[in-house]
Amino acid sequence: VDERAAMLRAIRLAWNGWARVGSNPLVGAVVLRDGAVVGEGFHAEFGGPHGEVVALAAAGERARGADLVVTLEPCRHYGKTPPCTEAILRAGIRRVVFGAHDVDPEALGGAEVLRRGGIAVEHGVLAEEVRRQNAVFFNRHSHRGRPFVALKLALSLDARIADQDGRSRWVSGEEAREFVQWLRAGYEAIGVAAGTARADDPALTVRGPLRPHRPPLRVLFDRRAEVPATARLIATARETPTVVVLGHEAAAAARAAVTAAGAEIVVAEDLAGALAALHERGIASLLVEGGGILAGRLLAAGLVDRLYVIVAPLLLGAGGVPAFGELPGAALSSAPRWRVSERRVLGDDQLLVLEGT
Ligand SMILES: NC(=O)c1ccc[n+]([C@@H]2O[C@H](COP(=O)([O-])OP(=O)(O)OC[C@H]3O[C@@H](n4cnc5c(N)ncnc54)[C@H](OP(=O)(O)O)[C@@H]3O)[C@@H](O)[C@H]2O)c1
Repeated sequence: VDERAAMLRAIRLAWNGWARVGSNPLVGAVVLRDGAVVGEGFHAEFGGPHGEVVALAAAGERARGADLVVTLEPCRHYGKTPPCTEAILRAGIRRVVFGAHDVDPEALGGAEVLRRGGIAVEHGVLAEEVRRQNAVFFNRHSHRGRPFVALKLALSLDARIADQDGRSRWVSGEEAREFVQWLRAGYEAIGVAAGTARADDPALTVRGPLRPHRPPLRVLFDRRAEVPATARLIATARETPTVVVLGHEAAAAARAAVTAAGAEIVVAEDLAGALAALHERGIASLLVEGGGILAGRLLAAGLVDRLYVIVAPLLLGAGGVPAFGELPGAALSSAPRWRVSERRVLGDDQLLVLEGT
């Protein structure tokens, strides 16, 4: 096993913490001795041991004189657990290779501590992959003032998200829907706009086998208060919290009914304002699940960081709901191209994960 293969393994291990690590980063680690893996681990639970510590414990005495390959720079601070740098020094690791530098102001600087302790330190192996895996964590410690925004849509071959009658259940197959349950569990908030709430009356809850550290907040973009308080998102707000984003005028009219149902109100006139308000409320990541008008407007405003596009093998033709409604036209020569970071087969459907630039 070479370093790059070990880092790929560490990244893969880190995904096991998805939805469970809360505001912490996903971290995986592998202990390498003479090219063989002698221990591995990942950060599994918010408040639980970090990936490095788990991998070192698994390696035991074999860690002495070995290399540690870890996705993120080891932390140097006392948080919920003692610093990883101490555990690494104590274990007698010879060399540490990490992917990306930490950006948490309390935790970063571990590389320097290790060097001072006499350990050889290198970084940058698959760093971009590690940053992508932890895009929410990196966004949290940036100063963008808005959540990391991902857009997920299931579309037909002709980019429709519902048929001519507005029906969208189901465009994609079972495997894709299981993937969406897994995906939801790892986001802090899940949002839809009024059109979707009225057409589908979705619950937007996490119903798959993966239980999130904290259930995602539900967000309804309903500028003009078109959605009745009997809609599932509002009516069940006492069981699963919901924020309703309303414009000023609508907020004045609908406040009583929305708050009586137990939902929270955020007042914002536009999407940038809504995202800023969600950020203020402590939301670091938002998965938007439609519909097409909201999707098009978010894209037009440059407010989408990642796309999860699920393409299903059917055509819905004229009258079907466009996946990116109202998106202004762009010239071929200047339309920004998204970077494909993943392709996956989900039954008969195809998942594309795309990163904005
Ligand atoms: N296949 C899929 O993945 C999928 C996912 C979701 C929905 N769907 C389908 O898509 C259809 C609904 O999509 P759609 O494109 O018609 O509507 P939509 O995007 O769900 O909702 C658009 C509506 O929301 C209102 N809205 C309120 N606040 C908004 C805000 N801040 N930003 C943007 N819009 C806001 C808009 O009103 P104003 O114009 O007044 O702002 C507009 O009337 C349904 O048929 C549903 O079944 C499919």
